[in-house]
Amino acid sequence: MMNTLRLSIAVAVVACSAGCGNVERSRDLANPEVSGVTLARQVCSNCHGSGGSAVSPNFPNLAGQSRIYLAAQLHGFKSQDRRDPAGFEYMFGLSRRLTDAQIDALADYYAGQQLVRQPVEGDERSILTGKAVFVNGIPARGVPPCTACHGSGGMGEGANPRLAGQHADYVRKQLDVFQRTPEARPEGSAMKIVAHGLDGSDIAGLAAYVQSLPER
Ligand code: HEC
Ligand code: HEC
Repeated sequence: MMNTLRLSIAVAVVACSAGCGNVERSRDLANPEVSGVTLARQVCSNCHGSGGSAVSPNFPNLAGQSRIYLAAQLHGFKSQDRRDPAGFEYMFGLSRRLTDAQIDALADYYAGQQLVRQPVEGDERSILTGKAVFVNGIPARGVPPCTACHGSGGMGEGANPRLAGQHADYVRKQLDVFQRTPEARPEGSAMKIVAHGLDGSDIAGLAAYVQSLPER
């Protein structure tokens, strides 16, 4: 009786030192036992930076982003509904086997992180052009104020993403997607109408302005 008990404890300890340790450091995107936070630290941080503050403008910041928006994008990549070129290239494979629980944990983790901002790009004039469009829209061209959905400080809420502090380069790219290939982001039907009336200098200004937010 005593021996059987000792043996089963020993087996449990051995199983845990081999398995549990690995699960905590695992990069295995196909293992539902690996927590979202572990994946964030071991895998996602390689591109999106530590805590979701991406150093390279090739990768969007995730820190402080809306939880609902983050989860929706991960589901969108997984189902291949969001298929703008960089999403297709990078995020399809990475999200393919994520479980709902991992997606929720990843969204919670990044929504709770503080964004470490990069230096602002763009000159003062461009930033002011962007600010005017962000706050007032361009009524003559049917562009509504961005503040209506993204909030006056660009912090976003729910399905409306945070734009404040996002890399200008990424913002430009996405406005281009909404303008030219909106079918690649089917959840962005509101943005299709918004982007339609924007020209190149509006887009450059908007990208520079939102990266400079929140105003200090
Ligand atoms: C090899 C680089 C790479 C890795 C690793 C990576 N991503 Fe991404 N991710 C990207 C790129 C590039 C984009 C931008 C895609 C686009 O332009 O559509 C992106 C976009 C996203 C977006 C959409 C952001 C937005 O503002 O719409 C989310 C959310 C995201 N990634 C989450 C994750 C998570 C969670 C992981 C880890 C499981 C991860 N990524 C790992 C490269 C990467
Ligand atoms: C009617 C509401 C609405 C208005 C007005 C609006 N947006 Fe959006 N925007 C959204 C929604 C919703 C999304 C998310 C789309 C998705 O899930 O694919 C979005 C997405 C974006 C994205 C992509 C963010 C990312 O992380 O990938 C950018 C950039 C953006 N909007 C910029 C703007 C700018 C600039 C304006 C003003 C010129 C604006 N938006 C006005 C609702 C709006």
